[in-house]
Amino acid sequence: MTNIESIHARKILDSRANWTVEAEINGILGASPAGASTGTHEVPTVPAEVACDFINRKIKKAFLNHEINQKEIDRKLKFLTGKIGSNGAIATSFAVYNFLWSQNTERKSVFPYPLGNVFGGGAHGGACDMQEVLLCPKNAKTFPDAVQKMTDAYHELKKELKDIGLSVGMNDEGALTATIGFMELMDILKPIADHNGCAIGLDIAASEMYRHNKYYYKQKDQFLSEDEQIDFVNHLIKKYRLFYVEDPMNEDDFDGFSEILSKNKKTLVCGDDLTTTNTQRIHKAVKKINAMIVKPNQIGTVSQTVEAIKLCKKTRITPVMSHRSGETTDATIARMALDFESPIIKCGIADMRTAKINELLRLWDKTEKPKMAKI
Ligand code: PGA
Ligand code: ZN
Repeated sequence: MTNIESIHARKILDSRANWTVEAEINGILGASPAGASTGTHEVPTVPAEVACDFINRKIKKAFLNHEINQKEIDRKLKFLTGKIGSNGAIATSFAVYNFLWSQNTERKSVFPYPLGNVFGGGAHGGACDMQEVLLCPKNAKTFPDAVQKMTDAYHELKKELKDIGLSVGMNDEGALTATIGFMELMDILKPIADHNGCAIGLDIAASEMYRHNKYYYKQKDQFLSEDEQIDFVNHLIKKYRLFYVEDPMNEDDFDGFSEILSKNKKTLVCGDDLTTTNTQRIHKAVKKINAMIVKPNQIGTVSQTVEAIKLCKKTRITPVMSHRSGETTDATIARMALDFESPIIKCGIADMRTAKINELLRLWDKTEKPKMAKI
């Protein structure tokens, strides 16, 4: 049994140059990420300085010299999220988790497949209406090979876009950006994905384009009704053999998700803003989705995140551990993906996003008989 001997929180910068919370417990760190296309049902944040101040006074007083027990600490943090926000809660909870991880040498050996954001737009910057075009190296037999296939495809896409004369940039998630029609981009990407053994996924983040009961595509200046959105998503799944579609419909349209799943049983129809890592919302989504994004800061603590993962597994929903668009080099989610057996981890490919991938590469290297998950 180890006690909390020191606890301190400070402000640090995230990848968008916004302040976020870093907590330090017995010298071990945990930092909160931040979303830009946040779901309405997420636990709210508070300003980083407010969270830090509360941790440094009240939390310190309550927790100092108490046993480092994840469940116990998270139970208290859960009731304090109104004061410290999901950002203060998750930074503290991550620091506890990372401390316990550092003390325990027993490791799981089944590694997640990376699902990397290769081309982006929407709330993360870029002309594309679709928030994220994703690659999953499903044919890879090892984690390093998966990273190789995904990055080869990333570099090839970048080169092809430059070769046709486009100015290629990078957005908040380190994904490529360019002014190109979405279908044209997909037509270029599909053969690149195929010959690198990658399947294509999309995060449509449909709530971001939902206006007056319609979906607005700004590149084409076009509104789609709910039925037209469903038809469009079904068409994309078929045309590009999508293995994964996240948030294809507005965040409260459980039935819309269900309709897409009913016609595409082999595709992972994934909730993010729909479910917000919240067990109450997962209960509502059972049989309507078959995959779910797991973002610990949507709900506030590691223990609540683990409950959400367990409920997913019980209800035949594939958990997909995920980064946020505002990140730090904190790699807690990489450890959690391995620890709680999430078969997929959604991450960035380039930029400071490599922190998560690099942690899994290190862990793969240190594991005696590592294996890839079944997806
Ligand atoms: P975020 O969005 O900007 O809220 O992190 C990422 C996502 O929608 O998956
Ligand atoms: Zn999403």
